Amino acid sequence: MRILLLMSIIGLSSPAFAGEGQTLHDAACLQCHASLTAGKPSSLYTRADRKVTTFEALQKRVIGCAVAADVRWSDKQRAQVVQYLAERFYHF
Ligand code: HEC
Repeated sequence: MRILLLMSIIGLSSPAFAGEGQTLHDAACLQCHASLTAGKPSSLYTRADRKVTTFEALQKRVIGCAVAADVRWSDKQRAQVVQYLAERFYHF
């Protein structure tokens, strides 16, 4: 909660910010996750036994998966993707 408050204070939680994150995410991340989930990539984030349960773990996972996806995002772009996933799927 404190993190979300902080992000809203510094303007990181606007809809445009997460929207840009979705664009980045869908271009780089969907294909591999779809191949893991029989074509339902978002089920990786919504399944009952999902691995990520905290905002910090989500940040780490996105860093790790960005290596797998071979993208070189700026800190801001990575934060946009984290924000998108947190708002859309994780709801910490
Ligand atoms: C080359 C394949 C591959 C690519 C590309 C990839 N991922 Fe992943 N991702 C995985 C695998 C494998 C897992 C773990 C699945 C499991 O635990 O069963 C995973 C899991 C995750 C999870 C955790 C899901 C949970 O259980 O809560 C997140 C978040 C995630 N990926 C984000 C991303 C993001 C963001 C990108 C784009 C930069 C990305 N991934 C690209 C393979 C990939």
